[in-house]
Amino acid sequence: MTTRRPTIGVFDSGFGGLTVLKALLELIPDADYLYFGDTARLPYGSKSVETVARYAVEAAHYLEGHGAELLVIACNTATALALDRITASAHVPVVGVVEPGAAAAASVTKNKKIVVIGTEATVSSHAYRKALEARSLDAREKACPLLVPMVEEGWVEHPVTEQVARIYLGEAFAEGFVDADVLVLGCTHYPLLKPLLHRVAPPHVSIVDSAESTARAVAARLQALLPPPPAVREERRALPRLKFFATDSVDKFRRLGERFLGHPIEDVQHVDLKE
Ligand code: DGL
Repeated sequence: MTTRRPTIGVFDSGFGGLTVLKALLELIPDADYLYFGDTARLPYGSKSVETVARYAVEAAHYLEGHGAELLVIACNTATALALDRITASAHVPVVGVVEPGAAAAASVTKNKKIVVIGTEATVSSHAYRKALEARSLDAREKACPLLVPMVEEGWVEHPVTEQVARIYLGEAFAEGFVDADVLVLGCTHYPLLKPLLHRVAPPHVSIVDSAESTARAVAARLQALLPPPPAVREERRALPRLKFFATDSVDKFRRLGERFLGHPIEDVQHVDLKE
């Protein structure tokens, strides 16, 4: 760390990681943020480990090259498939979303049975199951590939989305997991569906949002790296500076991104990452 006011790089395959940025801004307003959305190459959730790792490492280098002092891999798929590769190639600390999500689930569950929903790739990697089993918890992972396009369509309170979620959760909270008491949202898009998922999930279930738990993990990591001295109180009150990079249309990023972030997005720059 070189500055008292850290620059945090946040990476996602597209817009969804803005839910993590939103949680970070709420918890850590005394930082500046660079957000990279690889919108030209999304979705990551249906791609192979090799491809996702290559894309994610490129994006991480880009953020580091632009001054990020800590990297947050906001994308569940990129974390699940490539956190090791990203961490090995980065020169700054890297925080992913899977470990914080698993830790939060562990602190909430009483029955020690967890359901995790995510993309095909995240579920196939079993990253969440491994992280939960390491905490002596039983986990069932359920791929919900239809939910990402529905959220991007803006159908967060739509009867079709509700019906689809009912089918997915019905299959997940079945034999052996009827009494699971935590649902982990293992995908950047799902926090937008929280009210709907609360209605659809069995009533005894608590929902763990990996965006919030990741923000708490980042705050803890920053505290270890950067104890706040009293002398910088004035600087720490300044509003966060936000800069966005997108590999596809800047206009589309602004339009869709606002829904995920919850406020207007201004400073977006187009980035052309060569294959
Ligand atoms: N960001 C991805 C995730 O959290 C969802 C979108 C995608 O598949 O690229 O898994």
